[in-house]
Amino acid sequence: MKKKNKRFDNQKLIKQSFWEQDLSNSKFLNMKIQNCVFTDSNLSNSEFINSQIKNTNLTHSNLKGVNFETSKLMNVNLRDAVYNDKTKWPKNFNPKKYGAIKNKDFNPFSYKRKLSYKTIKSLSLKEINFYKKDIVKEKSLVKYNSIEKKIISELTNGKGYIVLNGYYKKKLIDKAEKIIDKKLKKHKDYKKATSSFEIDKKIKSINFFDLLNTDKIFTEMIQPKIVMNAFKKLMGENFICTYYAAQCSVAGSRGQSLHLDYPYVSYNKPGDKIPIGMGSKDFLLSCGILTYLNDSNKDNYGPIVLSGSQKFRRFPNIEDVKKYKFTKIKVPKGGMLILNTLMWHAGAPNYSEINDRHLLVAHYTPNFIKLRMNLKNDLKKNVLLNDKKNKGILKQLLS
Ligand SMILES: [Fe+2]
Repeated sequence: MKKKNKRFDNQKLIKQSFWEQDLSNSKFLNMKIQNCVFTDSNLSNSEFINSQIKNTNLTHSNLKGVNFETSKLMNVNLRDAVYNDKTKWPKNFNPKKYGAIKNKDFNPFSYKRKLSYKTIKSLSLKEINFYKKDIVKEKSLVKYNSIEKKIISELTNGKGYIVLNGYYKKKLIDKAEKIIDKKLKKHKDYKKATSSFEIDKKIKSINFFDLLNTDKIFTEMIQPKIVMNAFKKLMGENFICTYYAAQCSVAGSRGQSLHLDYPYVSYNKPGDKIPIGMGSKDFLLSCGILTYLNDSNKDNYGPIVLSGSQKFRRFPNIEDVKKYKFTKIKVPKGGMLILNTLMWHAGAPNYSEINDRHLLVAHYTPNFIKLRMNLKNDLKKNVLLNDKKNKGILKQLLS
């Protein structure tokens, strides 16, 4: 008989973590184990005698040869815990019901981790100092100006958005407005959208996607320098653009329902939680820029937002709409609303009877996210060439 690794007698263990611990060949006698964690632990060939294990997480543990016969297991989580023919369970206990898997190899994750820990520890002092210097050097390579710092802090720890005004020259915005307005008036649905007072408001939202082929100013407006550097910090050096459109809300158009786009609106539905690990507070999976092309008045302005709601990390539901106080933001002509798209937002209704509202909407994601729109499709050759001449990053954004 093998020597017992550890022995636990007549104790009460509450909320204790044995994560990744080697407890093989251990003995648990008259124990009360409650709300504990044994994830990735190796319990093989251990004995639990007259013990009680309640509300406890044993996921991914090694239970091969464990004897639970005289103990009670209550509300345990055995998801992907492994066991074999030698494992003895309490009478009428079905391990599969709790997620355990028979005869699967135990994945000794903990040992892998220990190995790398050792490697780090075995570095000499000289080596450690060398790495330290390198880290300092790497940090100092990227410098952010005060606006970039503000964008980064607002999108992560702040309101979830920031409004920047005065970046574009008036002439450029006037031109963009004129081009989109012309496109809108020519659109087949525009006539219909304005044909009668009672027309379905759905028709009053009209989008244009072929912007990059339309005029070079849209190549400029997909990559405002003032924002791109901050986005590199938030989504990685090689972040991309996966959606770019002019969204026109014809006078009287309906607003959007409250949502988030993370990375796209179609990924989530009301009440959904954003999985842990899907991005983080500082590394974002989606950011957006809304550029407003016309003067707004009290009836037709802005998006609706809930400041700071990116921290909730879940898709809003109807109860949230009732519960929270939202802000309608007035972005001046040519202004940009830059947002972490985890923040709850919605396009506001256009209550005006005469003024349409045009804005450019661009979504950016890290480059490993599935494309929502392939902006390279049907792109005229000279668009990329011209951008290269102007030292733009369009090639990266569309890669
Ligand atoms: Fe959105």
